[in-house]
Amino acid sequence: MPTPHIDAVDPEIASLIASEERRQADTLRLIASENYASAAVMEATGSVLTNKYSEGYAGKRYYQGQEHIDAVEKLAISRLKELFGADHVNVQPYSGSPANLAVYLAFCKAGDTIMGMGLPSGGHLTHGWKVSITGKYFNAVQYGVRKDTHRIDFDQVRDLAKEHKPKIIFSGVTAYPRTVEFGTFREIADEVGALLIADIAHISGLVAGGVHPTPVGVADVVTSTTHKTLRGPRGGMIMCKAEHAKAMDRAVFPGLQGGPHNHTTAALAVAAKEALQPSFKSYAAQVVANAKALAESLAERGFTIITGGTDNHMVVADMTPKGLGGKPYAVALEKAGVVCNYNSIPFDPRKPFDPSGIRLGTAAVTSRGLVEADMKQLASWMDDVVGKVDDDAALAKIAADVKALCDGKPAPGLPVGD
Ligand SMILES: Cc1ncc(COP(=O)(O)O)c(C=O)c1O
Repeated sequence: MPTPHIDAVDPEIASLIASEERRQADTLRLIASENYASAAVMEATGSVLTNKYSEGYAGKRYYQGQEHIDAVEKLAISRLKELFGADHVNVQPYSGSPANLAVYLAFCKAGDTIMGMGLPSGGHLTHGWKVSITGKYFNAVQYGVRKDTHRIDFDQVRDLAKEHKPKIIFSGVTAYPRTVEFGTFREIADEVGALLIADIAHISGLVAGGVHPTPVGVADVVTSTTHKTLRGPRGGMIMCKAEHAKAMDRAVFPGLQGGPHNHTTAALAVAAKEALQPSFKSYAAQVVANAKALAESLAERGFTIITGGTDNHMVVADMTPKGLGGKPYAVALEKAGVVCNYNSIPFDPRKPFDPSGIRLGTAAVTSRGLVEADMKQLASWMDDVVGKVDDDAALAKIAADVKALCDGKPAPGLPVGD
């Protein structure tokens, strides 16, 4: 994107933005939580809406001058209601973590018992992990995955829920490549009188595109980020049953936040409009098809794929049998133009800063038009990197090949050209 004003005012930042744009254009971005927002979404985030303060909700604000902001927020809400079939939507959370904190504020007091999936099994920090405020201020009980299948251990979920009687149960994942069975969580929550929260931060685009079962209408509250598979701006949102609407709105404002980020709300409205187009369904289906193709091609090359495959956009691999830790491998992959994150695997004997695995995601590469055949090529490059982690010249050669592929498949929102 041309940035003539930043160029004039702050050449240092302009240059850093240009370099990051180049990096995003020239590499295969496989970080599962990332994507490419469209140029339209980015224009909205850079709009004058950033100048406006509007604490409150449409029609009930604490400042004047809300005529256009109210219309923007209402449009975002109505489009998201249509997209997800939700009774009630709140588009004001600043991001996924604050959306989850609002849930705690709405339903729990400090010291209450809550349940969520442990981070090492693929849950998120805000689901009660010990270093998060949610693990410090609440009595957090953590469930995990089965040792034999690495799938969610519903016997454990049920046993822990019966023993500890949590007020809320979080379902939803950060590093888990399989379908989340929200219906089974619902049964367990009902057995113990808990509220069920579904955090679809990672999979909201797949839910919107109809390729992952929806928790809307199943869970009491559904939280999400807006910038992962949904391809919107950095942000968060909350969807809930009508009976919880007031409690959730009050928890977001004035409970947790001040003024909403109106530029982000507008960008979310744009992203929701894009996600309502038939092409978004094809996009979501291709994201999953690409993840499956990548998992299969890597497995054929001897990679150890956690759970043996994937149902969503994520692939988690244990690098131990290849004789590498996840971190040195991720570092070498980056030199080869393939960007992912090192990640703990279930029951990882290694430390989180030097874990056994890597996590891959296909949302961003699918946004730039890559298909199954490209995933085969990608797996082949990834396999080459295994034997060449210390060979910078060989890695640079792969990076050049990756760039050539990228040049032929320009990413949305990034004007390429030298
Ligand atoms: C399941 C889940 N919930 C919440 C979040 C938090 O989102 P944010 O980083 O926007 O606070 C994430 C982020 O990765 C996530 O994966």
